[in-house]
Amino acid sequence: MPDIPLLAGQDGARIPAIGLGTYDLRGADGVAATRTALDAGYRLLDTAFNYDNEGAVGRAVAESAVPRDTIVYSTKLPGRYHRHDLARRAIEESLFRSGLDRLDLVLIHWPNPRVGLYAEAWRALVEARADGLVSMIGVSNFLPEHLDRIIGETGVTPVVNQILVHPYTPNDALRAANAERGILTEGYSPLGKHTDLLADPVVTRIAVAHGVSARVVLLAWSVAIGVIPLPKSASPARQAENLDVFGVELSADEVAALSDLGRAEGADPRTHEEF
Ligand SMILES: NC(=O)c1ccc[n+]([C@@H]2O[C@H](COP(=O)([O-])OP(=O)(O)OC[C@H]3O[C@@H](n4cnc5c(N)ncnc54)[C@H](OP(=O)(O)O)[C@@H]3O)[C@@H](O)[C@H]2O)c1
Repeated sequence: MPDIPLLAGQDGARIPAIGLGTYDLRGADGVAATRTALDAGYRLLDTAFNYDNEGAVGRAVAESAVPRDTIVYSTKLPGRYHRHDLARRAIEESLFRSGLDRLDLVLIHWPNPRVGLYAEAWRALVEARADGLVSMIGVSNFLPEHLDRIIGETGVTPVVNQILVHPYTPNDALRAANAERGILTEGYSPLGKHTDLLADPVVTRIAVAHGVSARVVLLAWSVAIGVIPLPKSASPARQAENLDVFGVELSADEVAALSDLGRAEGADPRTHEEF
C-alpha cells in the first residue's frame, strides 16, 4: 500500500496528496467501491450533497477497519442552500446522511455570484466549524474575487479550493491565486474527462517512457505541480492503478511539456451556476 503524503493546509490542517472522487458511486455498490479504495490506501473521500451518496461514503468509513482519524470525509454544500439558515441545516443534513459523528471537510460547491449569497454560506460554514460539526472548511470553483470577499468578511481563509485541473485546463492563474492565499488546490476531473487528453501524443510518449498508463502520467503531473487530484473509479483494480502515481517521478521537462498542453478554460464560475 502506498504511503500517501499529507499536505499542510491552514491552521495545521493535513490533507492527503490524492483523494477518491465519488461522483456516481451510490448505494451498496458505492459502499463497496469506497471500501476497496480505503483498503487500497485512499484517505481522502470527495463526496457532495448533490452526489446523493453521502450515506454510502459514510457507511464505508464506518464499516472500514481504517482508523477514522486518518480519513478525511469531504462533502459540499449545494447552491440552493446558500442562505445562512438553509446552509446550516444542509450541513447538519450532510452530517446526518454521513452517519458519522463529524464531517472532516465541507466545501461550498459553486459560488453562484449572480445569486450573491456565497458569503452568507461561508459564514454558516465558519459557525459550523466553531460548533464542532466539521473540522475543516473550504470552497470549490471560487475565483480570486470570491476568495477575497469571504476572507475579507470573516477573516477565515478556506483550507482548499477545489477546481478543474488537468493538462488541457491547467488553471495556472487560479492555482497561483490559491497558493498566494495559503489555500491548497484540489483538482477535479484529473483524468481529463470529456477530452482527448488520454490519447495526446505528449501524454502517451511520457507514459511509454515510464512504463505506466496515460492516466498515471496525468495524476503524476497533478502531484508534481502541487495539486491534490481526485480521480474517481468504481473498480478496485483501477483505484489501485491510480495510486501508482507515487512510484513515478516526472522530470522537470516532462512536467513542463504537459503544462504546455493548456488550451481550454473550464466553466466560468461568474456565470456557470449549480444549485
Ligand atoms: N467540485 C466540482 O464542481 C466537481 C466537478 C466534477 C468532479 N468533481 C469531483 O472530482 C471527481 C473526479 O472527477 P470526474 O469523476 O469528473 O472524472 P475523473 O476522475 O477524471 O475520471 C473518472 C472516469 O475515469 C475512469 N477511470 C478512472 N481511473 C481509471 C483507470 N485507471 N483506467 C481506466 N479508467 C479509469 C472512471 O471509470 P471507472 O469508475 O469505471 O473506473 C470514470 O469514468 C468526481 O468524482 C468528484 O468527486 C468535482
